[in-house]
Amino acid sequence: MEKLLQEISRRMAQADLKSKADCEEFKREILGKNGLLQSAMDEFRALPGAEKPKWGSELNRLKSQATEMHQQALDQLATVVTLPWDDITLPSIPLPVGSLHPLTQVENELTALFNRIGFRVATGPEIEDDWHNFTALNFPENHPARDMQDTFFMQGQADRLLRTHTSGVQIRTMLNQKPPIRVIAPGRVYRCDNDATHSPVFHQIEGLVIDTDVSFAHMKEVLYYFVDQFFGKDFEVRFRPSFFPFTEPSAEMDIGRKKPDGEIAWMEILGCGLVDPAVLENCNIDPEVYSGYAFGIGIDRLAMLKYQIPDIRLLYENDVRFLRQF
Ligand code: PHE
Repeated sequence: MEKLLQEISRRMAQADLKSKADCEEFKREILGKNGLLQSAMDEFRALPGAEKPKWGSELNRLKSQATEMHQQALDQLATVVTLPWDDITLPSIPLPVGSLHPLTQVENELTALFNRIGFRVATGPEIEDDWHNFTALNFPENHPARDMQDTFFMQGQADRLLRTHTSGVQIRTMLNQKPPIRVIAPGRVYRCDNDATHSPVFHQIEGLVIDTDVSFAHMKEVLYYFVDQFFGKDFEVRFRPSFFPFTEPSAEMDIGRKKPDGEIAWMEILGCGLVDPAVLENCNIDPEVYSGYAFGIGIDRLAMLKYQIPDIRLLYENDVRFLRQF
């Protein structure tokens, strides 16, 4: 008995269970049906009763130790096999690298350039109510000016609509902040329009400045700065008189580039004007003390000009072959 137990101890001490095959051999030699522990059990049974306590505990100890060694080795092999990362010198699995959408790039660039001259970002909801989108901006109910903006209304909720412009953020800002105010409000807007130059969803960046003694000249200076920064010096700029219910006087600004034949190709990129006193009053700001200007720039237009994109719908199809170019 003693010899046999010593032999089992010796083999266990020498065992080096590095592979499945090692484990199998260990099991067969020591733990298995015809293994050494089984032989020891047989011998043990044949011992005279007086000797049993002496060897029984040693035998049990060896048996449980061998079982545990075997199990631990198996567990460890399983983890090693399921971890593909054990060779840290292997090149990693390549992940496709994304990039910012051209509209996001343009929006970020605009936000940064207005931030540099003291404009902070203001926000408002895309699902707007009639008052913020129209009434407070001096669009009287049933006034034809509302027809300039084909609106998506919410079914069954007469007062809810998808904002048709970011100008509603002017109202929200004037109600929440005291002058002086100097904000921009970039975001998505919606109109019931769909062709190569109009998408039912598009993007604007609104600007609003309210202070004492603000004039049209201040506004022009800021807009010239914006064109210089965004397009560079070789663009012409012109203002055309226009109409918006919430500004007076109002204008549209075009930028132009000389064509080879010397003629200038003009493109409208924004609406602007001095904030109408009626709008200030709607927001509890005294028009005798304060004045201001506002502008609304079409971000999609700028992206199309900057990257020479011929069809606005390309910006919304999310075709990676198109998006990869930016
Ligand atoms: N909200 C106007 C539009 O979407 C643009 C605008 C903004 C005009 C601010 C004047 C002042 O057409």
